[in-house]
Amino acid sequence: MTIATAPGKIILFGEHAVVYGRPAIAAPVSQLRATAVIENSKTRDVQLIAPQIQRRRSLHNAPDSDPFAMTVRLFVEAAQIPFVTNLNITIQSDIPIAGGMGSGAAITAAMFRGLAHHYNKLDILEPARLSELTYEVEKIHHGTPSGIDNTVVSYEQPLFFVKASPQNQIEPFTVGKPLKFLIGITGIRSQTKLVVSDVRRQWEADKKRFDLIFDGCGQIATAARQLIQLGDALQLGQLMNQNQELLEEMTVSSKELNSLTQAATQAGALGAKLSGAGRGGNMIALVTDESETAVHQALLQAGATAVYATTLS
Ligand code: MEV
Repeated sequence: MTIATAPGKIILFGEHAVVYGRPAIAAPVSQLRATAVIENSKTRDVQLIAPQIQRRRSLHNAPDSDPFAMTVRLFVEAAQIPFVTNLNITIQSDIPIAGGMGSGAAITAAMFRGLAHHYNKLDILEPARLSELTYEVEKIHHGTPSGIDNTVVSYEQPLFFVKASPQNQIEPFTVGKPLKFLIGITGIRSQTKLVVSDVRRQWEADKKRFDLIFDGCGQIATAARQLIQLGDALQLGQLMNQNQELLEEMTVSSKELNSLTQAATQAGALGAKLSGAGRGGNMIALVTDESETAVHQALLQAGATAVYATTLS
């Protein structure tokens, strides 16, 4: 039996604009993880077992549009083995599904890690390789992803990311002083694929306006990286608020996200913004030791279905 995991993620700055080549910053959320358990079985096929949703099914005849079947097929190709049989793959996740925290990418990366260990194909564990494979499956989930989610869950460290051809710019950076974020979950499912394609529709209808919004997000992400390195939480909070305004202009915020971000800032957060695709999912608030409890309470009172704390260090 082999057990492997991968973390959830938050986007600190630059979501959506990152799809259009602007810089963004993401961080792993290490305490919320997806787990894949790989076991040999007596039945000939490969069974996917998901106890949380009471599902069990065979992957052998599943189409390529099935992310789990595709993960196994991509593994077989990457590992240069003829096929895999007699396997049970059990998946479990603490990461809220459709919560904007990269649950899909984490499950895929955990499966690749588990299969790589099980078949002793350890080169697949190398972060760049793992990220590249996970990206192929992200395309099934999300259509035209930037690649930031698969990158951050595979590298498991805070990253400055720019989508670029032929190679993405992936830069880990230092954190001047630990920064604490609260993650507020709206409880409303965020369909990344739909939100990303709606932003594309709006960009196509008014490229000039949307390019300016994306430029603004990119400039904020670049400035934010400096402030994180310097440990300047006060100014970083301001940048989060500015990024939130631009996301509202993109129409990806929502009533629920607005009330959580407002509740957080009113309760003393240094800054707050939605994180990920938006229109549901999650938001993040930058807090100090003094404001953390009040912001946590305020988020719950404003309707957050769960609040998690994570420290960038
Ligand atoms: C989703 O976590 C982030 C988005 O920018 C989509 C992407 O980058 O692929 C909304």
